[in-house]
Amino acid sequence: MESVTGTSTEAGEVWCVVVAAGSGRRYGGAKQFDSLGGVRVIDRSVSVAAANCDGVVVVVAPDVVGTRDAEVPGADAVVAGGATRSGSVRNGLAAVPGDATVILIHDAARPLATEGLYRRVIAAVRSGAAAAVPVVPVVDTIRSLAGGVVDRDQLRAIQTPQGFEASAIRAAHTADAEATDDATLVEAAGGTVALVDGEPRNLKITGPQDRAVAEALREFDEGDSTT
Ligand code: CTP
Ligand code: MG
Repeated sequence: MESVTGTSTEAGEVWCVVVAAGSGRRYGGAKQFDSLGGVRVIDRSVSVAAANCDGVVVVVAPDVVGTRDAEVPGADAVVAGGATRSGSVRNGLAAVPGDATVILIHDAARPLATEGLYRRVIAAVRSGAAAAVPVVPVVDTIRSLAGGVVDRDQLRAIQTPQGFEASAIRAAHTADAEATDDATLVEAAGGTVALVDGEPRNLKITGPQDRAVAEALREFDEGDSTT
């Protein structure tokens, strides 16, 4: 597809891996296939990725590959995931073409990421960061189980899409490392992590109430009360 990053011809392609191979234990089912305002969560997540990247690899559970659930508009490839999120990321990375220079990793369970967020993440990697991570301030007062209140001004909550210099994320995943956050693996390998502004609306659907919250956020932002 045509690149909308504006720099991809001279600077190499941007690909996104959208991980959607989880079982949704906390949610009570595979949340990525539920509908949000008439469009499946996975389809929303992939469509924003496809609009901002040269290619998209979607990772689904092995038993979903080849079924109608795996027919995702905008996906260039659909591959089988692993037992853990990191395993799924590794399988997705293996399907990204070798000439990609920037690789993004996004949770299918975050259907409300915006184009602006993608642009900020890609720009930070283009500017030289090994990893770019969207973060939002922590609004709750946080208490440590060890006692005392933690200074929330020093804390940020991490979102996806996270962006990476391709060789850095491939190297971080060569060992069978496990992390819920890919940038942590790059950082552990000595790579620089840039923080970019995340978005409060970019929630991850985790528990059963979160779909209702996502629905309300979508309607609020789109001025759309249809369901
Ligand atoms: N994911 C994946 N492969 C796994 C586990 C998770 O691709 N083996 C994906 C999920 O589909 C989701 C994202 O990683 O898009 C973030 O994971 P999470 O929100 O934890 O989803 P689940 O693992 O499905 O939920 P739970 O942990 O409650 O079972
Ligand atoms: Mg999980």
